[in-house]
Amino acid sequence: MTTSGVLPEVDVCCQTERMLKMASSVLSLRLSSASKTCLPLLKSMRLTQTAAAVKPEKRFKKFTVYRWDPDKSGDKPHMQTYEIDLNNCGPMVLDALIKIKNEIDPTLTFRRSCREGICGSCAMNIGGVNTLACICKIDNNTAKQTKIYPLPHMYVIKDLVPDMNNFYAQYASIEPYLKKKDIKEEDIGKEQFFQSVEDRSKLDGLYECILCACCSTSCPSYWWNSDKYLGPAVLMQAYRWMIDSRDDFTVERLSMMEDKFSVYRCHTIMNCTKTCPKHLNPGLAIGQIKKMLALYKKDTEAKAAHA
Ligand code: SF4
Ligand code: SF4
Ligand code: FES
Repeated sequence: MTTSGVLPEVDVCCQTERMLKMASSVLSLRLSSASKTCLPLLKSMRLTQTAAAVKPEKRFKKFTVYRWDPDKSGDKPHMQTYEIDLNNCGPMVLDALIKIKNEIDPTLTFRRSCREGICGSCAMNIGGVNTLACICKIDNNTAKQTKIYPLPHMYVIKDLVPDMNNFYAQYASIEPYLKKKDIKEEDIGKEQFFQSVEDRSKLDGLYECILCACCSTSCPSYWWNSDKYLGPAVLMQAYRWMIDSRDDFTVERLSMMEDKFSVYRCHTIMNCTKTCPKHLNPGLAIGQIKKMLALYKKDTEAKAAHA
């Protein structure tokens, strides 16, 4: 201590340095005694882990896939089996297909894009169920082979790729967009059309459809009459626009469906709702259209009687 009551700077540094040295030597002593006991244990654990990592038990599983190549003369539709080790593959059926294409057979053809159940392009029939390959988990039972077909009752372009032209044409036919009356072409887009929270919530469970066609291609009525019956996917979207509070063409939309086939080929078998990979309920939407059509018919008949 100096007379001024201030410690000279050099003394503070020396003391701090000494204290730090003491602390670190105590710490290193403790660590070295601990490591003496723990090291053998750690070494043996690491050896076990390394051994397990080097020799994982292989988990081979068979995938039997529908094949047909129209460019190969004389090729007939047939099934082809591929075997892959599930330890070196992602968890979904789409991962297995990509692995087969990348590592075993580059000619295998299928559609995919988003890899997360959003684009709808990887729809196919897996183990007897129409679903999306990218969100369908591989069955871990290696004794059981997984069979993969294109969506049923569709024309096939190649392997697992179905022809979606008819499906998209049917979708276009219902005019799946907002239609307003009394608005000039040049005014479209100038103002927003608001909706109440309640009206907006009526579209929940409908707007989420990704048009994968799993439902339509699981429907027996669609299998036999896909040229005239619109099928559950398209009908659910038709209903989505019929009940949109901003749309002015509900009556016209209903009048398009009055014939025997467009809606009434639905016999409420409900395969569509059971198979939908997005857990939507197209069967219910069709039921609602039928109710709306019944009211619409009653209304038209009443108007005709008073005319
Ligand atoms: S309702 Fe479901 S199964 Fe049908 S097209 Fe939409 S998402 Fe696919
Ligand atoms: S409920 Fe109608 S649309 Fe759905 S599978 Fe049955 S018949 Fe087809
Ligand atoms: S890859 Fe898009 S839904 Fe499967």
